[in-house]
Amino acid sequence: MRTVFWDYDSDSTKMIDQRQLPWEFEIAEFTDYKEVARAIKEMYVRGAPAIGAAAAFGMALAARQSSATDRLTLLRDLETAAAHLNAARPTAVNLAWAVRRMLRVAANEELEGVDDVRDAILAEAQMLADEDVALNKRMAYNGAELISDGDTILHHCNTGALATVDWGTALGVVFAAHEQGKKIHVLVDETRPRLQGSRLTAWELHQRGIPFDLIADNAAGHFMRTGQVDIVLVGSDRTAANGDVANKIGTYKLAVVAKENGVPFYPVVPTSTVDLELEHGDLIPIEERGNEEVLFIGEQSIAPAGITARNPAFDVTPHRYVTGIVTEAGIVYPPFVKNLRQAVEAEQNKEKASEK
Ligand code: MRU
Repeated sequence: MRTVFWDYDSDSTKMIDQRQLPWEFEIAEFTDYKEVARAIKEMYVRGAPAIGAAAAFGMALAARQSSATDRLTLLRDLETAAAHLNAARPTAVNLAWAVRRMLRVAANEELEGVDDVRDAILAEAQMLADEDVALNKRMAYNGAELISDGDTILHHCNTGALATVDWGTALGVVFAAHEQGKKIHVLVDETRPRLQGSRLTAWELHQRGIPFDLIADNAAGHFMRTGQVDIVLVGSDRTAANGDVANKIGTYKLAVVAKENGVPFYPVVPTSTVDLELEHGDLIPIEERGNEEVLFIGEQSIAPAGITARNPAFDVTPHRYVTGIVTEAGIVYPPFVKNLRQAVEAEQNKEKASEK
Protein backbone atom coordinates (compact mmCIF):
# COMPACT_ATOMS: atom_id res chain seq x y z
CA MET A 1 0.00 0.00 0.00
CA ARG A 2 1.18 3.54 -0.74
CA THR A 3 1.87 6.01 2.08
CA VAL A 4 -0.08 8.79 0.33
CA PHE A 5 -2.61 8.30 -2.47
CA TRP A 6 -5.70 9.66 -4.18
CA ASP A 7 -8.89 7.66 -3.70
CA TYR A 8 -10.79 8.00 -7.00
CA ASP A 9 -13.99 6.55 -5.51
CA SER A 10 -14.33 9.15 -2.75
CA ASP A 11 -12.40 11.94 -4.55
CA SER A 12 -10.21 12.42 -1.52
CA THR A 13 -6.59 12.06 -0.56
CA LYS A 14 -5.67 9.35 1.91
CA MET A 15 -2.56 8.67 3.93
CA ILE A 16 -1.25 6.25 6.49
CA ASP A 17 -1.47 7.99 9.87
CA GLN A 18 2.17 7.56 10.92
CA ARG A 19 1.50 8.99 14.38
CA GLN A 20 -0.26 5.71 15.25
CA LEU A 21 2.52 3.35 14.13
CA PRO A 22 3.72 0.81 15.18
CA TRP A 23 0.73 0.28 17.48
CA GLU A 24 -2.16 0.89 15.05
CA PHE A 25 -2.40 0.92 11.26
CA GLU A 26 -4.90 3.62 10.32
CA ILE A 27 -5.69 5.42 7.09
CA ALA A 28 -6.68 9.08 7.37
CA GLU A 29 -8.88 10.72 4.71
CA PHE A 30 -8.79 14.38 3.63
CA THR A 31 -11.13 16.44 1.48
CA ASP A 32 -9.79 19.87 2.50
CA TYR A 33 -6.33 21.15 1.57
CA LYS A 34 -6.07 23.01 4.90
CA GLU A 35 -6.46 19.67 6.68
CA VAL A 36 -3.69 18.23 4.48
CA ALA A 37 -1.45 21.13 5.58
CA ARG A 38 -2.32 20.36 9.19
CA ALA A 39 -1.55 16.65 8.64
CA ILE A 40 1.89 17.60 7.27
CA LYS A 41 2.57 19.90 10.23
CA GLU A 42 1.38 17.34 12.79
CA MET A 43 3.28 14.54 11.05
CA TYR A 44 0.49 12.18 10.04
CA VAL A 45 2.71 12.13 6.96
CA ARG A 46 6.43 12.88 7.11
CA GLY A 47 9.60 12.33 5.12
CA ALA A 48 10.53 14.76 2.35
CA PRO A 49 9.13 12.90 -0.72
CA ALA A 50 5.94 11.83 1.09
CA ILE A 51 5.35 15.43 2.17
CA GLY A 52 5.81 16.50 -1.47
CA ALA A 53 3.20 14.00 -2.70
CA ALA A 54 0.78 14.97 0.09
CA ALA A 55 1.13 18.64 -0.89
CA ALA A 56 0.55 17.79 -4.57
CA PHE A 57 -2.69 15.99 -3.72
CA GLY A 58 -3.51 18.90 -1.38
CA MET A 59 -3.33 21.19 -4.41
CA ALA A 60 -5.66 18.83 -6.31
CA LEU A 61 -8.11 19.15 -3.41
CA ALA A 62 -7.76 22.94 -3.42
CA ALA A 63 -8.66 23.00 -7.12
CA ARG A 64 -11.79 20.94 -6.38
CA GLN A 65 -12.73 23.03 -3.34
CA SER A 66 -12.53 26.30 -5.27
CA SER A 67 -15.91 27.52 -6.51
CA ALA A 68 -14.21 29.52 -9.29
CA THR A 69 -15.90 29.53 -12.66
CA ASP A 70 -13.08 31.32 -14.48
CA ARG A 71 -9.40 30.49 -14.75
CA LEU A 72 -8.07 33.67 -13.15
CA THR A 73 -10.11 33.17 -9.97
CA LEU A 74 -9.10 29.51 -9.83
CA LEU A 75 -5.42 30.47 -10.18
CA ARG A 76 -5.82 32.99 -7.36
CA ASP A 77 -7.40 30.33 -5.11
CA LEU A 78 -4.57 27.94 -5.97
CA GLU A 79 -1.94 30.58 -5.06
CA THR A 80 -3.63 30.95 -1.65
CA ALA A 81 -3.62 27.18 -1.14
CA ALA A 82 0.03 27.00 -2.24
CA ALA A 83 1.08 29.58 0.37
CA HIS A 84 -0.87 27.71 3.06
CA LEU A 85 0.66 24.32 2.18
CA ASN A 86 4.18 25.76 1.82
CA ALA A 87 4.00 27.12 5.36
CA ALA A 88 3.36 23.67 6.87
CA ARG A 89 7.03 22.60 7.21
CA PRO A 90 10.02 24.65 6.07
CA THR A 91 12.99 22.29 5.66
CA ALA A 92 11.90 19.58 3.22
CA VAL A 93 12.25 21.23 -0.18
CA ASN A 94 10.02 18.63 -1.87
CA LEU A 95 6.99 20.44 -0.44
CA ALA A 96 7.66 23.72 -2.28
CA TRP A 97 8.91 21.78 -5.33
CA ALA A 98 5.66 19.77 -5.60
CA VAL A 99 3.44 22.82 -5.04
CA ARG A 100 5.37 24.77 -7.71
CA ARG A 101 4.92 21.89 -10.14
CA MET A 102 1.13 21.95 -9.60
CA LEU A 103 1.00 25.73 -10.09
CA ARG A 104 2.95 25.37 -13.34
CA VAL A 105 0.33 22.95 -14.66
CA ALA A 106 -2.49 25.26 -13.56
CA ALA A 107 -0.87 28.12 -15.48
CA ASN A 108 -0.80 26.17 -18.77
CA GLU A 109 -2.79 28.33 -21.16
CA GLU A 110 -3.61 25.43 -23.41
CA LEU A 111 -6.06 24.20 -20.79
CA GLU A 112 -9.41 25.68 -21.62
CA GLY A 113 -11.90 25.64 -18.76
CA VAL A 114 -11.62 25.43 -14.97
CA ASP A 115 -12.57 21.76 -15.01
CA ASP A 116 -9.69 21.03 -17.38
CA VAL A 117 -7.34 22.71 -14.89
CA ARG A 118 -8.80 20.66 -12.02
CA ASP A 119 -8.31 17.42 -13.96
CA ALA A 120 -4.80 18.38 -15.07
CA ILE A 121 -3.67 19.11 -11.50
CA LEU A 122 -4.93 15.78 -10.24
CA ALA A 123 -3.27 13.99 -13.16
CA GLU A 124 0.03 15.78 -12.42
CA ALA A 125 -0.16 14.93 -8.70
CA GLN A 126 -0.77 11.29 -9.60
CA MET A 127 2.18 11.38 -12.00
CA LEU A 128 4.42 12.89 -9.32
CA ALA A 129 3.44 10.08 -6.93
CA ASP A 130 4.02 7.37 -9.56
CA GLU A 131 7.38 8.87 -10.52
CA ASP A 132 8.45 8.89 -6.88
CA VAL A 133 8.05 5.13 -6.63
CA ALA A 134 9.88 4.45 -9.90
CA LEU A 135 12.81 6.74 -9.17
CA ASN A 136 13.19 5.44 -5.62
CA LYS A 137 13.70 1.96 -7.05
CA ARG A 138 16.30 3.20 -9.54
CA MET A 139 18.08 5.06 -6.75
CA ALA A 140 17.94 2.03 -4.47
CA TYR A 141 19.61 -0.25 -7.00
CA ASN A 142 22.27 2.43 -7.66
CA GLY A 143 22.96 2.54 -3.92
CA ALA A 144 22.91 -1.24 -3.49
CA GLU A 145 26.19 -1.36 -5.44
CA LEU A 146 27.82 0.08 -2.32
CA ILE A 147 26.63 -2.80 -0.15
CA SER A 148 28.58 -6.05 0.11
CA ASP A 149 27.50 -9.39 1.47
CA GLY A 150 27.91 -9.37 5.25
CA ASP A 151 27.78 -5.57 5.65
CA THR A 152 26.37 -3.79 8.68
CA ILE A 153 24.57 -0.58 7.78
CA LEU A 154 23.91 2.22 10.26
CA HIS A 155 20.67 4.10 9.51
CA HIS A 156 19.12 7.25 11.01
CA CYS A 157 15.48 8.43 11.13
CA ASN A 158 12.97 6.75 8.80
CA THR A 159 13.64 6.81 5.09
CA GLY A 160 11.57 3.83 4.00
CA ALA A 161 8.26 3.42 2.18
CA LEU A 162 6.63 5.55 4.87
CA ALA A 163 8.89 8.53 4.12
CA THR A 164 8.11 8.40 0.40
CA VAL A 165 5.13 7.35 -1.71
CA ASP A 166 6.55 3.83 -1.63
CA TRP A 167 9.86 1.95 -1.32
CA GLY A 168 12.03 4.66 0.23
CA THR A 169 15.40 6.39 -0.10
CA ALA A 170 18.21 5.20 2.22
CA LEU A 171 16.10 2.33 3.52
CA GLY A 172 15.20 1.60 -0.09
CA VAL A 173 18.90 0.82 -0.65
CA VAL A 174 18.71 -1.64 2.25
CA PHE A 175 15.59 -3.26 0.72
CA ALA A 176 17.33 -3.56 -2.66
CA ALA A 177 20.46 -5.14 -1.16
CA HIS A 178 18.26 -7.60 0.77
CA GLU A 179 16.30 -8.40 -2.38
CA GLN A 180 19.63 -9.13 -4.14
CA GLY A 181 20.23 -11.82 -1.54
CA LYS A 182 23.03 -10.01 0.31
CA LYS A 183 23.24 -10.94 3.97
CA ILE A 184 23.06 -7.59 5.69
CA HIS A 185 22.43 -6.30 9.18
CA VAL A 186 21.06 -2.87 10.07
CA LEU A 187 21.76 -0.83 13.18
CA VAL A 188 18.70 1.39 13.60
CA ASP A 189 19.14 4.70 15.44
CA GLU A 190 16.01 5.22 17.52
CA THR A 191 16.06 8.92 16.45
CA ARG A 192 14.94 11.04 19.38
CA PRO A 193 12.79 13.01 19.87
CA ARG A 194 10.08 11.68 17.50
CA LEU A 195 11.51 8.15 17.42
CA GLN A 196 11.13 7.65 13.66
CA GLY A 197 13.79 4.93 13.93
CA SER A 198 12.23 2.81 16.67
CA ARG A 199 8.62 3.33 15.60
CA LEU A 200 8.81 3.40 11.81
CA THR A 201 12.13 2.03 10.51
CA ALA A 202 12.03 -0.89 12.93
CA TRP A 203 8.43 -1.58 11.86
CA GLU A 204 9.36 -1.60 8.15
CA LEU A 205 12.44 -3.81 8.60
CA HIS A 206 10.53 -6.20 10.87
CA GLN A 207 7.74 -6.53 8.30
CA ARG A 208 10.26 -7.43 5.58
CA GLY A 209 12.24 -9.83 7.74
CA ILE A 210 15.52 -7.91 7.40
CA PRO A 211 17.88 -8.51 10.35
CA PHE A 212 18.42 -5.43 12.52
CA ASP A 213 19.06 -4.17 16.03
CA LEU A 214 17.59 -1.01 17.45
CA ILE A 215 20.19 1.18 19.16
CA ALA A 216 20.01 4.32 21.29
CA ASP A 217 21.25 7.28 19.24
CA ASN A 218 24.11 7.70 21.69
CA ALA A 219 25.44 4.21 20.89
CA ALA A 220 26.25 4.94 17.22
CA GLY A 221 29.74 6.31 17.96
CA HIS A 222 30.64 3.21 19.95
CA PHE A 223 29.63 0.90 17.11
CA MET A 224 31.65 2.91 14.58
CA ARG A 225 34.78 3.20 16.73
CA THR A 226 34.78 -0.53 17.43
CA GLY A 227 34.63 -1.41 13.72
CA GLN A 228 31.06 -2.74 13.75
CA VAL A 229 29.70 -0.48 10.98
CA ASP A 230 30.59 -0.75 7.27
CA ILE A 231 28.54 2.14 5.91
CA VAL A 232 26.20 4.89 7.13
CA LEU A 233 23.10 5.52 4.99
CA VAL A 234 20.78 8.46 5.63
CA GLY A 235 18.18 10.45 3.70
CA SER A 236 17.96 14.20 3.19
CA ASP A 237 15.26 16.83 3.47
CA ARG A 238 17.19 19.35 1.43
CA THR A 239 20.65 19.22 -0.12
CA ALA A 240 22.36 22.45 -1.18
CA ALA A 241 24.20 22.94 -4.48
CA ASN A 242 27.58 22.33 -2.82
CA GLY A 243 26.51 18.97 -1.34
CA ASP A 244 25.77 20.17 2.22
CA VAL A 245 22.99 17.90 3.47
CA ALA A 246 20.11 18.86 5.76
CA ASN A 247 18.62 15.82 7.42
CA LYS A 248 17.04 14.66 10.67
CA ILE A 249 18.70 16.09 13.76
CA GLY A 250 21.65 13.91 14.77
CA THR A 251 22.85 13.24 11.23
CA TYR A 252 25.74 15.74 11.51
CA LYS A 253 27.10 14.00 14.61
CA LEU A 254 26.97 10.65 12.80
CA ALA A 255 28.82 12.04 9.77
CA VAL A 256 31.64 13.50 11.86
CA VAL A 257 32.12 10.26 13.79
CA ALA A 258 31.96 8.26 10.55
CA LYS A 259 34.77 10.32 9.03
CA GLU A 260 36.86 10.07 12.21
CA ASN A 261 36.56 6.27 11.99
CA GLY A 262 36.91 5.84 8.22
CA VAL A 263 33.30 4.69 7.77
CA PRO A 264 31.79 5.79 4.42
CA PHE A 265 28.83 8.16 4.81
CA TYR A 266 26.28 8.27 1.97
CA PRO A 267 23.07 10.32 1.93
CA VAL A 268 20.49 8.85 -0.48
CA VAL A 269 18.80 11.80 -2.15
CA PRO A 270 16.35 12.01 -5.06
CA THR A 271 17.24 14.96 -7.31
CA SER A 272 13.92 16.59 -6.29
CA THR A 273 15.48 17.06 -2.83
CA VAL A 274 18.47 18.98 -4.21
CA ASP A 275 18.01 22.74 -4.05
CA LEU A 276 20.41 24.16 -6.64
CA GLU A 277 19.27 27.66 -5.75
CA LEU A 278 20.96 27.40 -2.34
CA GLU A 279 24.71 27.74 -2.58
CA HIS A 280 25.43 26.11 0.78
CA GLY A 281 23.75 24.42 3.72
CA ASP A 282 23.71 27.43 6.05
CA LEU A 283 20.98 28.87 3.81
CA ILE A 284 18.63 25.93 4.50
CA PRO A 285 15.80 26.88 6.89
CA ILE A 286 15.84 24.62 9.93
CA GLU A 287 12.46 23.81 11.47
CA GLU A 288 12.20 24.23 15.24
CA ARG A 289 9.38 22.11 16.63
CA GLY A 290 7.54 22.33 19.94
CA ASN A 291 9.48 21.58 23.11
CA GLU A 292 6.88 19.00 24.21
CA GLU A 293 8.54 16.56 21.76
CA VAL A 294 11.67 16.70 23.96
CA LEU A 295 9.97 16.95 27.35
CA PHE A 296 7.59 14.04 26.77
CA ILE A 297 7.67 10.61 25.15
CA GLY A 298 4.09 10.22 24.00
CA GLU A 299 2.02 11.25 27.01
CA GLN A 300 4.80 10.46 29.48
CA SER A 301 6.72 13.42 30.90
CA ILE A 302 10.47 12.70 31.14
CA ALA A 303 11.64 15.96 32.73
CA PRO A 304 10.71 18.24 35.62
CA ALA A 305 7.57 20.27 34.89
CA GLY A 306 8.08 23.88 33.90
CA ILE A 307 11.55 23.60 32.33
CA THR A 308 12.41 24.73 28.81
CA ALA A 309 13.85 22.70 25.93
CA ARG A 310 15.13 23.31 22.37
CA ASN A 311 14.01 21.16 19.48
CA PRO A 312 15.64 21.77 16.08
CA ALA A 313 14.19 19.03 13.85
CA PHE A 314 17.09 18.96 11.36
CA ASP A 315 20.80 19.69 11.13
CA VAL A 316 23.19 20.35 8.27
CA THR A 317 26.13 18.08 7.48
CA PRO A 318 28.85 19.97 5.61
CA HIS A 319 29.81 18.26 2.35
CA ARG A 320 33.38 17.52 3.53
CA TYR A 321 31.90 14.68 5.62
CA VAL A 322 29.95 13.22 2.70
CA THR A 323 31.62 10.36 0.84
CA GLY A 324 29.10 10.38 -2.01
CA ILE A 325 25.45 11.14 -2.70
CA VAL A 326 23.24 8.37 -4.11
CA THR A 327 20.65 9.70 -6.57
CA GLU A 328 18.39 8.18 -9.21
CA ALA A 329 20.90 9.51 -11.76
CA GLY A 330 23.74 7.51 -10.20
CA ILE A 331 26.17 7.99 -7.31
CA VAL A 332 27.60 11.50 -7.24
CA TYR A 333 31.10 12.06 -5.86
CA PRO A 334 33.02 15.29 -5.11
CA PRO A 335 33.41 17.92 -6.38
CA PHE A 336 29.70 18.17 -5.61
CA VAL A 337 29.36 21.75 -6.87
CA LYS A 338 29.97 20.49 -10.39
CA ASN A 339 28.82 16.87 -10.25
CA LEU A 340 25.59 17.35 -8.29
CA ARG A 341 24.41 20.11 -10.64
CA GLN A 342 25.20 17.86 -13.60
CA ALA A 343 23.16 14.98 -12.13
CA VAL A 344 20.17 17.18 -11.26
CA GLU A 345 20.14 18.92 -14.63
CA ALA A 346 20.42 15.58 -16.46
CA GLU A 347 17.26 14.40 -14.65
CA GLN A 348 15.45 17.70 -15.32
CA ASN A 349 16.31 17.48 -19.03
CA LYS A 350 15.00 13.91 -19.16
CA GLU A 351 11.74 15.14 -17.61
CA LYS A 352 11.44 17.99 -20.11
CA ALA A 353 12.13 15.63 -23.04
CA SER A 354 9.40 13.23 -21.87
CA GLU A 355 6.90 16.13 -21.57
CA LYS A 356 7.32 16.93 -25.30
O1 MRU B 1 10.78 15.10 10.46
P1 MRU B 1 10.66 14.02 9.43
O2 MRU B 1 10.29 12.69 10.01
O3 MRU B 1 9.79 14.43 8.27
O4 MRU B 1 12.11 13.87 8.86
C1 MRU B 1 12.39 12.94 7.84
C2 MRU B 1 13.81 12.80 7.56
O5 MRU B 1 14.64 13.51 8.09
C3 MRU B 1 14.20 11.82 6.52
O6 MRU B 1 15.45 11.29 6.81
C4 MRU B 1 14.21 12.59 5.21
O7 MRU B 1 12.94 13.03 4.86
C5 MRU B 1 14.81 11.92 4.07
S1 MRU B 1 14.26 10.33 3.63
C6 MRU B 1 12.87 10.43 2.78
